[in-house]
Amino acid sequence: MIRPVNIGLSPNLEVDDFELALKVLIKGGDKKARQGLVEWFEDYFLGYSAVLFNSGRSAEWAIIKALELKTGDEVLYQDFTCVAVPNSVEWAGVAAIAVVTDPQTLDMDITDLEKKINSRTKAVIVQHTFGLAANVEKIKAICETKGLVMIEDCAHALGATYKGEKLGTFGQVAFLSLGRDKVISSVFGGVVISKDTKLIKRLRKIEDELPENSRGWIVQQLLHPILTWLFLPVYDLGLGKLGLWVAQKLGLLSKAVYSIEKRGGQPKYFPAKYSYQLAWLGLHQLQKLEKFNDHRRKIAEIYFEELADTELKLPVRAKGNIYLRFTVVHPRARELYLRAKVERKWVLGDWYKSAIQVLNLPTYPGFTANQAKELCEQLKIWLKSKK
Ligand SMILES: Cc1ncc(COP(=O)(O)O)c(C=O)c1O
Repeated sequence: MIRPVNIGLSPNLEVDDFELALKVLIKGGDKKARQGLVEWFEDYFLGYSAVLFNSGRSAEWAIIKALELKTGDEVLYQDFTCVAVPNSVEWAGVAAIAVVTDPQTLDMDITDLEKKINSRTKAVIVQHTFGLAANVEKIKAICETKGLVMIEDCAHALGATYKGEKLGTFGQVAFLSLGRDKVISSVFGGVVISKDTKLIKRLRKIEDELPENSRGWIVQQLLHPILTWLFLPVYDLGLGKLGLWVAQKLGLLSKAVYSIEKRGGQPKYFPAKYSYQLAWLGLHQLQKLEKFNDHRRKIAEIYFEELADTELKLPVRAKGNIYLRFTVVHPRARELYLRAKVERKWVLGDWYKSAIQVLNLPTYPGFTANQAKELCEQLKIWLKSKK
């Protein structure tokens, strides 16, 4: 099937995922999937324990709770991020303090990080943005000197490494996301990993006491891969786009980020346990982790070659990175995003809207090498022509 170029349209979805979601919706799926998922993560991160939650944001919330931080304590995070990151800290009753992001690396600015640390600071969330390793050595050294907990945000980074070590193994604790547009997807899903047995014990207790999401909510998530797959072939004709829009308006489909979250609010669906139905989708997708990340790296290499001589600021090129999205920085990034949408019907990415002007280029599994080359040619033409 030819997919429309659209970075946000369930980018990891393939026919077998559609078939599985349909089967789980009709037959209910295997209740053991949750345990299977825990085992997968504990095998992958050898020596670590894994605890599941229904999203990355719930996993992050649970970490802050398990650290037993108090009102008045502060957790630092980089400001180039998703609203879910500061929100989860605040939902746990702790202050989230933004650290400026370095526009060169899209990583935490170390000078600002040091400036923001005070006696109330208890932890730092280190984000491996788009699957590129953050400055872990430096931040880890700062955390150790100041006695702060280093939490790794691996929402984009499953399978990525730094100097041969898996991201997620540098801090005391890490969380990952299996959201619809992350490295692998079960529409919503999150995991915490740690070697700290005390922390894991508290996390398990927190998980135990959480509610299950309602049957209706789970059905809504299962419909996501099903309806998206059915509408994909006719998306660019307008019919698919309309169909998905109507399904969302009718409440048949959820949004990745709920509207109230944009105002700091907390939807009633988070935090909750990871449902076994969605865990089943995640377990299936995990079999494709290496294939997906190899593909992302291959597409990234095309961008590195084809865009080398342009004015676009390219990401750091390192063997361990996985380039969930290939993110370039340029003062005209917004204009390029809009031109792609209007002139070519290409939906590129704009994570994250901030003072840094970025454009995310697709690397997702169904995006081909030829499409990547065509996109590069078009970007070069647009960059030469002043609007
Ligand atoms: C960097 C980052 N961290 C955490 C999250 C939260 O993950 P989830 O969507 O699974 O709640 C997101 C979500 O987009 C994210 O981009």
